[in-house]
Amino acid sequence: MLKHLPTFRFLLALMLFSACLSSAEGMRPVHARRAMVATVHELASQTGADTMRAGGNAVDAAVAAGFALAVVHPAAGNLGGGGFLLLRLANGEVHFLDFREKAPAKASAGMYLDAKGNVIPQASQIGYRAVAVPGSVAGLVEAQRRWGKLALKQVMEPAIRLARDGFALRYTDAHALRDELLAQFAESKRIFQRNGNYYEQGEIFRQPELARTLERIAQDPDDFYHGALARELAAAIQQGGGLISTDDLANYKVVERRAVRGTYRGYQVISAPPPSSGGVALLETLNILEGYDLHALGSRSAKSIHLTVESFRRAFFDRAEFMSDPDFTPVPVAQLIDKQFAARWRESIDPVRATPSDSLKRPKFEALDQLASTRAPMAVREGGNTTHLSVVDPQGNAVAMTTTLNDSFGSRVTVPGLGFLLNDEMDDFTVKPGVANLYGLIQSAANAIAPNKRPLSSMTPAIVLKDERLFLVLGSPGGATIISTVANIIMGVIDFGLDIQQAVNAPRFHQQWVPDELRLEKFGFSPDTLPLLSNGGYELKQTGYWGDAECIAVDPRTGDRLGASDGRNSGRAIGF
Ligand code: DON
Repeated sequence: MLKHLPTFRFLLALMLFSACLSSAEGMRPVHARRAMVATVHELASQTGADTMRAGGNAVDAAVAAGFALAVVHPAAGNLGGGGFLLLRLANGEVHFLDFREKAPAKASAGMYLDAKGNVIPQASQIGYRAVAVPGSVAGLVEAQRRWGKLALKQVMEPAIRLARDGFALRYTDAHALRDELLAQFAESKRIFQRNGNYYEQGEIFRQPELARTLERIAQDPDDFYHGALARELAAAIQQGGGLISTDDLANYKVVERRAVRGTYRGYQVISAPPPSSGGVALLETLNILEGYDLHALGSRSAKSIHLTVESFRRAFFDRAEFMSDPDFTPVPVAQLIDKQFAARWRESIDPVRATPSDSLKRPKFEALDQLASTRAPMAVREGGNTTHLSVVDPQGNAVAMTTTLNDSFGSRVTVPGLGFLLNDEMDDFTVKPGVANLYGLIQSAANAIAPNKRPLSSMTPAIVLKDERLFLVLGSPGGATIISTVANIIMGVIDFGLDIQQAVNAPRFHQQWVPDELRLEKFGFSPDTLPLLSNGGYELKQTGYWGDAECIAVDPRTGDRLGASDGRNSGRAIGF
């Protein structure tokens, strides 16, 4: 411990320094001249900022913070999950890395159904059989190798230290660990719940097995997919009844895909392509909304909520039908984000009344009409956890990265001896056509389970440019609500003139075609507005709050980095 004292003092000094920088956090963006990191956890943001101070770029910082989140935010940060990384280099180049999990080779369409064809409760969500082949380690390592400036070991060092020496649990961290389902798995119960002697706020949480696994990855990143680590992982999963083999791990590949791009009122929007539905649904929504003067209607007025909700409804209708892994079924991306298609959809929107979801009909649009008849939409569950981070470095490189275990703590399985949790991303497939998933989302047979296929995602890491210059870096967890959260933040800034923190703070609302309800956060909507919406035919459902948008804006006049962490959680934007 004494050996680490100088590092600890240094860290403490840095924290105090950055605390000064972020004194106005909550209501106003955190200002910094050169660089910014926003994540759900102060220690991960600090890790990212320190990495850039040490000469790393935005990718080094994102990878360092990503590994740190796997330690300090085990509910969603991960080694055993997957995600998407959107990078825009200062020279304008854009790269998108898909490190989404894949179904194992032994997976099959009916694997979560009983003999009568009914869905076996929780089979795709809890336990070893729910686990898809993890992509996070491959994704982070590849991003770092291709675009990072520092050595992997240096970038991973803070995560290793946090795991080995531990960190003080915040209230939210300590209480999240009390998850009942974690207790079903002995190793998870031992590590995260101290066998029932729950951790309290302020206690130091050490994860020696995880530290060792991180060290092994830092030493030889290939070990996770091709070496002893792969063999230990596959053996543990198979012993637990899961399907993942060493071949599945050896065959895992990160895919670079072309990001989807569109415009919104002259701003350029860049986001995730399939196998995420996020970018396409975001652009489709914004395209529809472009035909309305939202600014004149006002933020969170009944009229602007109505038009936004109707746009969400239509984008989710198309999501259900057309979206899946593009390596298995072609997804008509260009058609779905065509402004002419949005114009046709707009004609179906009543200026004042809700369109019942079951009466919704896609307008004629030749390129889609041929496809549409062959694909029947199916239903999507609630809950879960994912985490997003945004980084801008001093050179102007930017990373938006969303990564997930799907549910909070994923499948709840911790790999014995290796100290990390495994995802339950198999639930993002259409387990049975017509039956909703964790997020209550209906999806089509195009998203059915097949060997080596990636399940459809809603993750929406996004970057917005103004006059070709970096303007916003955005993203959030929240399952299906990710898409509406990111859209609402972009509209907040562009339509309603909010600063990035106000846009993140603004109350959220969501509609996803099925179920036919308008979800609103409990806090922040005017009681005068809600009856106007009910009278317009909406079934309102007010719930607590959701999402955790971790965003950055670049001030077009000064180039200042403006960090906005989400007050709904205990995240932090840290810059210098
Ligand atoms: O990829 C997806 O869309 C989901 N697995 C994300 C889950 C999620 O965001 C849960 N967060 N609250």
